[in-house]
Amino acid sequence: MSTKKIKEILVTTPSDQAVIVQGWCRTKRDSKNHAFLELNDGSSLKNIQIFIDKSKHDFEDLSKISTGASVWTKGLLVESPGQNQAVELHADELAIIGEAPAADYPLQKKRHSFEFLRDIAHLRTRTNTFGAVMRVRNALSYAVHQYFQNNSFQYVHTPIITASDCEGAGEMFQVTTMDLNKLPLTEDKQIDYSHDFFGKEAHLTVSGQLNVETYAMALGDVYTFGPTFRAENSNTSRHLAEFWMIEPEMSFCDIEGNMDRAEDFLKFVLSYVLENCQEDMAFFNQWIEKGIIDNLKSVINSEFHRISYTEAIDQLLASGKKFEFPIKWGEDLQSEHEKYLTEELYKGPVIVTDYPKEIKAFYMKLNDDNKTVRAMDVLVPRLGEIIGGSEREWDYDKLLSRIKAAGLNEEDYWWYLDLRKYGSVPHSGFGLGFERLVQYVTGMQNIRDVIPFPRYPGNAEF
Ligand code: 4AD
Repeated sequence: MSTKKIKEILVTTPSDQAVIVQGWCRTKRDSKNHAFLELNDGSSLKNIQIFIDKSKHDFEDLSKISTGASVWTKGLLVESPGQNQAVELHADELAIIGEAPAADYPLQKKRHSFEFLRDIAHLRTRTNTFGAVMRVRNALSYAVHQYFQNNSFQYVHTPIITASDCEGAGEMFQVTTMDLNKLPLTEDKQIDYSHDFFGKEAHLTVSGQLNVETYAMALGDVYTFGPTFRAENSNTSRHLAEFWMIEPEMSFCDIEGNMDRAEDFLKFVLSYVLENCQEDMAFFNQWIEKGIIDNLKSVINSEFHRISYTEAIDQLLASGKKFEFPIKWGEDLQSEHEKYLTEELYKGPVIVTDYPKEIKAFYMKLNDDNKTVRAMDVLVPRLGEIIGGSEREWDYDKLLSRIKAAGLNEEDYWWYLDLRKYGSVPHSGFGLGFERLVQYVTGMQNIRDVIPFPRYPGNAEF
């Protein structure tokens, strides 16, 4: 007899057929003659109820089963007389696989705060909320691949270790095998990286973009989806030091095509989750963010507003609102500004384009005004920036001067410049922070609660 997942069992028609279930006990109700167990195996939010008739069988010591214990049971699947479930299992055999002594098992039946659960990240997936978050996360990553594969994009695995800074912001973690207590020095007392593992300075990547661009120049439409690292000291609910990023890159594509793609892609993944994670989404709708299902549906059915950065600044100045950080042309939008644009003014997603070149990365295409670049950020209500992208500078001389102006080392980018030397074409792409997407879809307030083991300043536990 095959062991089935609880999710499958709960939707089968009961006909007193024998089934095997394995899972972790969520609750137990015990009386003189019988006991009820609620078992969960992570396949769904729902538990299966196990009915134990003590008079019929000689079960192992039931008192050893407490919340968190793992249990194997075999019995008949029958229609349940209870109101909360259609089927239940009447146990014929039952075995405790692993006990979870109630005296020190940290997850009790009461509600625990998300802060507390972060300290036991190795166990928190056994709660309803984290189980649901991780199932939705799984579905979203599948939807990402499905979208790109269906649209003839090729998946490229870009390196984690790199010698170039993609964003040019200097927020990288260094990778070295040198003994930090005995660093070799050059004659002029600088660290001599020729002795290091790679023979030069190396870091964890902040983005796979530069590498994936090389593939767009050969394979056409490509994407990378992998971990990225930022050593920025941001202790916010939207920043992680290690996060996953989805980065499509399209050749023969300008900023308009880039915006169309970003909008189409977001709508696809949102629709996918609403269709395939109904139970978990109903949970978020009820307990985490009321109305989130309707909210996501309205995004799917709306057209994203498209405005330039200059228009956005004008609208913010004209709003008459008192912002904590007063805005003026040349400065980056803060989350309060993003909130005003998406939640009050446009009441939906907004794509802001053509930012001042000084506040954007060196690789973005310079506009004819010589002041702004063809950047595009997608802002959404509740969260703010979810996507950052641009048309790329594909002219060799302009790119070189931008690299120099940014104070970057020209030699580190020789291969990236080569793409502009040989068969250069207009191309564009964007990056979607995967955890921001999971946050947006589930309504979870803190980004640290949508990744299995969050890394942030002062924390690399687990
Ligand atoms: O705007 P960013 O920095 O863009 C890039 O890295 C480009 N190379 C992408 C590209 O064009 N291929 O980051 C892109 C997205 C942001 O919009 C945000 O969703 C997410 O990555 N992000 C973060 N997510 C979590 N924690 C952080 N510290 C993040 N920094 C950026």
